Amino acid sequence: MSKYRVVAGDWASLKPDASYIREQVFILEQEIDPTDEWDEQDPISVHFVVYAQGNSEGQSQHQDSNQGQAIATARLLKDDHVGRVAVLKSHRGQGIGKVVMREIIQYAKTEQRSQLVLSAQVHAIEFYRGLGFEVQGETYLDCNIPHVDMTMSL
Ligand code: COA
Repeated sequence: MSKYRVVAGDWASLKPDASYIREQVFILEQEIDPTDEWDEQDPISVHFVVYAQGNSEGQSQHQDSNQGQAIATARLLKDDHVGRVAVLKSHRGQGIGKVVMREIIQYAKTEQRSQLVLSAQVHAIEFYRGLGFEVQGETYLDCNIPHVDMTMSL
């Protein structure tokens, strides 16, 4: 059995796990204002949550005995934007970001979308480049964090 399971769903079903991860990563770690974090796109996006199967080594992350431990999330908007890509700090560098992004790429291909678009924090450019995204244009500030647009043709 795979170590990780990715679940795709709507906000109504994935909000508890997705919002927990986003709160930990964007609001607490990156100090993004909660009024910027939660927006009108959540109820109309497809959300993805990665669950780790098995032992969480006693760490205090969100745990559901049926699903496993929620460790990463991202969302896909109707206009092909991927956003809110977040892996809990304790689980980075283990390929989990890649797991959730590959699931989104596969999902978008199944929906016969022609491209994916995202606004990448500059520190994550190489992460997205490794998945096939290319930088478009100049960097700009969003929530006081340098970003750059990236796209990928499907
Ligand atoms: N700089 C350069 N390369 C990076 C990187 C970084 N900051 N983060 C990951 N990579 C590379 C890895 O080395 C790996 O390369 P490989 O495939 O050649 O081995 C590949 O990207 C996949 O890495 P992975 O382990 O799947 O990444 P992750 O699980 O640590 O998740 C983020 C990456 C960016 C999602 C994670 O660091 C995170 O949640 N950061 C905080 C939130 C954030 O900034 N999100 C992005 C908003 S645009």
